[in-house]
Amino acid sequence: MSEILIEGRRLMLRRATVSDVDYITALQFAPENLKFIVPFDKNYQGKAAKSDGTQIMNVIIEERDTEDPAGYFMIRGLDNKAKEMEWTHVIVGRKGLGYGHEAMKLLKAWTFEVKKFHRAWLDCKDYNEIAIHLYESEGLQREGLIRETLLTDGIYENLIIFGMLDREYFERKADNKELSLEAED
Ligand SMILES: CC(C)(COP(=O)(O)OP(=O)(O)OC[C@H]1O[C@@H](n2cnc3c(N)ncnc32)[C@H](O)[C@@H]1OP(=O)(O)O)[C@@H](O)C(=O)NCCC(=O)NCCS
Repeated sequence: MSEILIEGRRLMLRRATVSDVDYITALQFAPENLKFIVPFDKNYQGKAAKSDGTQIMNVIIEERDTEDPAGYFMIRGLDNKAKEMEWTHVIVGRKGLGYGHEAMKLLKAWTFEVKKFHRAWLDCKDYNEIAIHLYESEGLQREGLIRETLLTDGIYENLIIFGMLDREYFERKADNKELSLEAED
């Protein structure tokens, strides 16, 4: 049984195990996802799954009713002394069902309420319109643009940095824009 991080209405976030590595690898290399991320190979994913999770933790987004995986992301920096966490490789397999929103809300609640981190950030290709819409509507701030930092098929690409601070999360929560954890059971 893998460790459950947090449960929502339709989804839960649980720590990935070695048995999830094939799913994660297939998800990353699916053409509709690959163009928006820089994938890690199976070997790296296996090492992450076997690690203690403090530096790198793979997380499965799971449907509660079917117990099927619906997506995946990676967390880096749980050992960071400044309480800064990186969220990366956010991928929803079952797209367009609102799972991206629910998974982001669960991730924020876990980061800022359960783990009590100060800051979280991620990066996103500057033409990834769906992800940009998702992150901005979930309250992440555009913090910067890293120009021509990726070389993909001979073309340089830009990354936008998005971030959220704990106080920004709690301001949104006071405005009823975040989950009420008590009500999720
Ligand atoms: C980005 C991603 C995680 C979103 O997950 P999802 O479950 O499909 O997202 P949701 O259904 O919760 O929400 C999608 C929103 O984008 C909107 N959308 C759809 N197409 C859009 C477009 N071309 N431009 C802007 N917004 C768009 C939807 O209308 C919906 O809007 P809403 O806020 O009004 O509900 C998913 O599409 C994905 O895995 N993409 C491939 C990998 C990827 O890009 N990962 C992000 C790396 S930074």
